[in-house]
Amino acid sequence: MSDQNSLIELSQLSENKINQLFQSCIELKKKFKQHTLPESTLKGIAVLLFFEPSTRTRFSFEAACARAGVHPLILGGASGTSLEKGETMEDTIFNLEAMRPLFFVIRCPDALDLKDIQKQISVPIINAGWGMKGHPTQALLDTVTLFERWGSLRSKKILFVGDIKHSRVVGSHRQLSSILNYKIGYCAPRELLPQDIDAKSVEVFDGLDEGLKWADAVVGLRVQKERHASQSDDSFISEYRHSFGLNSQRLEKFKSDGLILHPGPINYGVELEKEVLTDSRSVILQLVENGAFMRETLIRQILQNQSLVIKGSL
Ligand code: NCD
Repeated sequence: MSDQNSLIELSQLSENKINQLFQSCIELKKKFKQHTLPESTLKGIAVLLFFEPSTRTRFSFEAACARAGVHPLILGGASGTSLEKGETMEDTIFNLEAMRPLFFVIRCPDALDLKDIQKQISVPIINAGWGMKGHPTQALLDTVTLFERWGSLRSKKILFVGDIKHSRVVGSHRQLSSILNYKIGYCAPRELLPQDIDAKSVEVFDGLDEGLKWADAVVGLRVQKERHASQSDDSFISEYRHSFGLNSQRLEKFKSDGLILHPGPINYGVELEKEVLTDSRSVILQLVENGAFMRETLIRQILQNQSLVIKGSL
């Protein structure tokens, strides 16, 4: 049953299940703020493996575990572990499974086959960012934040600006948009666009002004230098900032009730200027708050042995 409770890809979920997760997350946040949540008793341990760097995702899973009554055992990078002695990520997982955790949370490079690992272990896995393949909990926390404001995402237009080619966040939104029926737009220099864009399901804007006029929400993406084959030079960055950077002047073209998102970490002075964080349309820090509640919602579902998979199996 563990694969039924895992969250590796969003294409596993139905529209009903996602709406149910949104409602539960909003309810959980409300009760937390009203101090009306019953005290959580300790239910066991969970293993949080962050083979790649993370701040928001890692700490929000840690917070979510604590609030749900699960003690998190955390690996944050190879340093100080037997990965430094050459032990594989697979072996690390198998050995930690032997300590009987309730579930795993895993951030890893593309090279680790999470679906195959899932077949070999008997507890659920939550994908916390899998190479360039996907980041389902980020897409869920983005959309629950939009759902809170809009009530529904149907026919809404979300513009992604920046390093779309390397973004696992966009990959997960592509899956989610076809379930919740929202529209996706891309705006980026040619070298940061994926090669295989499906023109039927994605609108591509060459200019940022044009994209901002179209969008109901804009998501700034980090230029992921660590995933680029060659070093991006200073002239690329300054040209990028000039043509695609989000700043208050640019955002005059964006609707007054639009919403501004960024998954973080932010490269200020590249994809976004500092003033945008305090723009009244920015929900950047609300995403972080909702991230902890969405992750706690998913953990509580696992603890109640509620299946996340609705359509078929992995
Ligand atoms: C993103 C990630 O790691 O995919 N950040 C996050 O999880 N909050 C985006 C990024 O690294 O730029």
